[in-house]
Amino acid sequence: MPVPIIIDCDPGHDDAIAIMLAAGDPSIDLLAITTVAGNQTVEKTTLNARRVCTVAGITGVPLAAGCTQPLVQPQLVADDVHGKSGLDGPQFAEPAVDVVPEHAVDLMYRILTRHPEPVTLVPTAPLTNVALLLTRYPDSAARIREIVLMGGSTERGNRTPAAEFNIYADPEAADIVFRSGVPITMCGLNVTHQALATPEVVARLEGLGTELGRTCAQLMTFYGSTYRRLWGFASPPLHDPVAVARVIDPAIVHCVDASVAVELHGHHTRGATVVDLHGYLGRPVNARVAVTLERELFWDRVIGAVDALGKRTT
Ligand code: BDR
Ligand code: CA
Repeated sequence: MPVPIIIDCDPGHDDAIAIMLAAGDPSIDLLAITTVAGNQTVEKTTLNARRVCTVAGITGVPLAAGCTQPLVQPQLVADDVHGKSGLDGPQFAEPAVDVVPEHAVDLMYRILTRHPEPVTLVPTAPLTNVALLLTRYPDSAARIREIVLMGGSTERGNRTPAAEFNIYADPEAADIVFRSGVPITMCGLNVTHQALATPEVVARLEGLGTELGRTCAQLMTFYGSTYRRLWGFASPPLHDPVAVARVIDPAIVHCVDASVAVELHGHHTRGATVVDLHGYLGRPVNARVAVTLERELFWDRVIGAVDALGKRTT
């Protein structure tokens, strides 16, 4: 049976592919797409989600806009990585998919309470919406099967030497989520940096021969240029789809159990995920932490999903 999920995102080049993977893979039942301020303002991330759904032919999946600001600190955008629009590169047509007139957090809660089985949340953005869901609707926790998120790292950061973007952009929200008691799987930079969209991957996307395949290749080309400029990467890491892949098939992303705490006060380390891989602190385990990606399995699923959606829209 396909796993029912809600993806909470801030598209974003890698979020765009994560949405396509969730919509195009038969192992997932995509119940909703919700957006949040992150890579860009929520107005832009929502417009981008509508653009992605339109180009990929994703219809009938409710899409709702969420929080405009982090819980405590001012918003931080990643326009240096994703461009002014948040999804620079391809030219998108006028979106034909609209949002539902409901806040993302209310939509999540409604789905969680009505769906016959517990639902998996897949956040690929700052955790503001998810933290608000858990605090505003405390009974939602029991309806969440697990939270499989992209964020943090067992190693160093990408926004500061210590912190990864999704956690750094709203550390208080991340702290609420990691202390919630809901089962959590954390797909951090240490594993997402194994998902490099190499020239071979881009050629496979182009080689699908569909408009969608070409759009994805253009997205990867823009994203690759910023990763080369900012971090000297030869190929860009496709962070967010790793979390979706873990839900599709746990054998694609290997995990270990650990306690994870979010640093809120460190002068130089705010937003870091402190992952106790060796159990030094004796704290209870609160997360599965992704450590190894089966690269071939991963890319086969991503390209298979883009292929399936692309054929439907051609
Ligand atoms: C995360 O930050 C965003 O820029 C990406 O979309 C991804 O979710 C990687 O640190
Ligand atoms: Ca993202």
